Amino acid sequence: MSKTIAFDVYGTLINPHGVVRELEGLLGQRAGAFSALWRQKQLEYSFRRGLMDAYSGFAVCTRQALDFTCLELAIKLSEADKEALMAAYTRLPAYDDTVPALSALKQQDIACWAFSNGEPDDLESLFAHADLHGTVKGIISVDAVKSFKPDPRVYEHFLRESAVDAADTWLVSSNPFDIIGARAAGWEAVWIQRDPTIQFDCWEWQPSTTLSSLSELSAYFSTLE
Ligand code: 2OP
Repeated sequence: MSKTIAFDVYGTLINPHGVVRELEGLLGQRAGAFSALWRQKQLEYSFRRGLMDAYSGFAVCTRQALDFTCLELAIKLSEADKEALMAAYTRLPAYDDTVPALSALKQQDIACWAFSNGEPDDLESLFAHADLHGTVKGIISVDAVKSFKPDPRVYEHFLRESAVDAADTWLVSSNPFDIIGARAAGWEAVWIQRDPTIQFDCWEWQPSTTLSSLSELSAYFSTLE
């Protein structure tokens, strides 16, 4: 049976820390720490909202995490600065290995989709700015389900939208919480451990395999044929 790959977006195809350049202009040396806390709280807010069944768009999680990060780090940003940072979040860069990996997999007749917490309009903007249109079969957002990864309902939503079975579906993600959600949903999953210092959670669900970059995917999937 032909394989389908669902690619996580933020942190896998698109570099969320691409906003650091914008932050360095505002914060200098504190930009890296600010970006890391901002991303951590953005994800934490998505988990909380999923558990609370209190869905908002992912952009609300991103903005509320930005406001919290300013408070936590005692950094005063103007509303204009914050709006510029939020706009930068819709124009994040793709990783260098994104386009070559997707085109190699397309040659192997593997159906590649984008699958993200992001809202449809924001994902369209990201893909247009990063020149990723045409690299995937389609973009599937969790927004229709009004919940977030790793809620099992969002993985079911992907299967319905892409009309594929769990057994033939692989998630590719750099986010351990997403890998665990997909494996618990019966998918195979490739963890992209871009940073060797990041450890995977000690849970009963583990990646099907771990690679250090998207560029290793083509060779890996060739071994499965
Ligand atoms: C996603 O793109 C947030 O990385 C996560 O769904």
